[in-house]
Amino acid sequence: MQIAVVGSGYVGLVAGACFADLGHDVIVVDNDQKKLSALNRGEVPIHEKFLPELLHRHRGVRLKFSDDLETAVRASSAIFVAVGTPPTEHGEADLSYVESVARGISGAINSYKVVVEKSTVPVYTSDWVRKIILRNGAEAEEFDVASNPEFLREGTAVTDFLYPDRIVVGADTPQCAAVLREIYAPLADGSYYMRPDAIPRPDRAQIPPPLIVTSAKSAELIKHASNAFLAMKISFINAVASICESVGANVQQVCQGIGTDSRIGPRFLSPGVGYGGSCFPKDLMAFRAVARECGYDFRLLDEVMRINEEQRHRFIRKVRSALWTLRGKKLGVLGLAFKGGTDDIRESPAILLIHSLLQEGCQIAAYDPAARERAQEALNSSVTMTEDAYEAAQGADALLILTEWEEFGALDLNRLKAELKYPIIIDGRNLYDPEIMAAAGFTYYSVGRPAASPEPISGRAADTRTKKGTRS
Ligand code: UGA
Repeated sequence: MQIAVVGSGYVGLVAGACFADLGHDVIVVDNDQKKLSALNRGEVPIHEKFLPELLHRHRGVRLKFSDDLETAVRASSAIFVAVGTPPTEHGEADLSYVESVARGISGAINSYKVVVEKSTVPVYTSDWVRKIILRNGAEAEEFDVASNPEFLREGTAVTDFLYPDRIVVGADTPQCAAVLREIYAPLADGSYYMRPDAIPRPDRAQIPPPLIVTSAKSAELIKHASNAFLAMKISFINAVASICESVGANVQQVCQGIGTDSRIGPRFLSPGVGYGGSCFPKDLMAFRAVARECGYDFRLLDEVMRINEEQRHRFIRKVRSALWTLRGKKLGVLGLAFKGGTDDIRESPAILLIHSLLQEGCQIAAYDPAARERAQEALNSSVTMTEDAYEAAQGADALLILTEWEEFGALDLNRLKAELKYPIIIDGRNLYDPEIMAAAGFTYYSVGRPAASPEPISGRAADTRTKKGTRS
């Protein structure tokens, strides 16, 4: 099928490359000339596993880049809208880019088209897109508007697209549903997975995935409700972790105990410095705003957001209780991205924490495997960026772990200890076993677990009590 994807950000680019891998002919449309030239030159603008392979495989053959929306619409049966929906100052989604694309599509409709919302949008958006297209001259029977939300995580977006838990198609007419079924047929009928050149199957993937057909409005709600539920799970476990710290329990054991209940499940129960990224914070605010507009006061979401913010304040208090005063302290920081496996620093808890620590007068040397360049722009020259984790630790009063990159969980502990001025680690992502850290000679603080140290920890150091068994 011939498909147009409008917007070449995370979602548009990954969707375009994956549709091409399913065998469709795809035109990705963007009005950013610099981005288009870079994509045409073969550059890959984001750090995303398997994306370089897919772009290399299909660029110029089944995947083209263009700034000409009209031609792309005329040539295509389905047009996926994947433009940005940034938050307004009141927390609502700004839909002006979606509206302007809808206007552009309207003038180019020359036969039956399915216009598909791929960006995360509030529940009434499909109605509005329809109105705008009609208002600009298209005939009602010439198009349908569908909602096909994505559930891609940054870092694993390509495998999430090709091996999804489910495909949600929000279509209000049988003709529209049929077009979307055809597009996803290679996944839903399993034929993609038989191909020798298919992107490798990740652990846990169930194939073929179910394709769920709903109304467009239900699909819009599914996206917001999914992200809100996942964020709620994270805030819930962070709240439980705080209680664990007060009573000397271990949140990891608690997680094991509750996560094995199949109704709850073990995933998204990792406590830490709070969720970040371009999705959860923005989507929670937007969902809250939509609910309010619909007459429902969704205060549960306020609490999810409050706990998330409090989690960062707690972490700063933990650093202070480990080091006493902060002014002039030298800190090594591991992790700048909002999570491991990405170079994205949008709403990164690590960046927000660094800002607070700088305000407290700390000096910071930081390392991130992928996000250094982006972080340097956001932090100006206030932070020294290092080439590896050990350099960040050099001469530091303590080392902070703020992002769950895999490599941060496999450091050479002897080397790390030799680099640090004091062997103190404050781990905001629970990457190490406290007992092992104490045995290796570190004073180790984490989230929701007792602090561990070769020596008893004295004074105010903790909501994080010393665990007897951890003394070596
Ligand atoms: C999230 C959703 O997981 C995707 O399903 C959705 O498609 C996407 O938003 C979106 O709306 O586009 P993403 O933002 O890439 O994906 O990141 P996640 O892996 O969900 O992590 C979000 C944040 O929560 C990160 O800061 C991460 O460190 C944190 N997190 C995650 C925890 O603190 N604990 C956990 O157990 C899981």
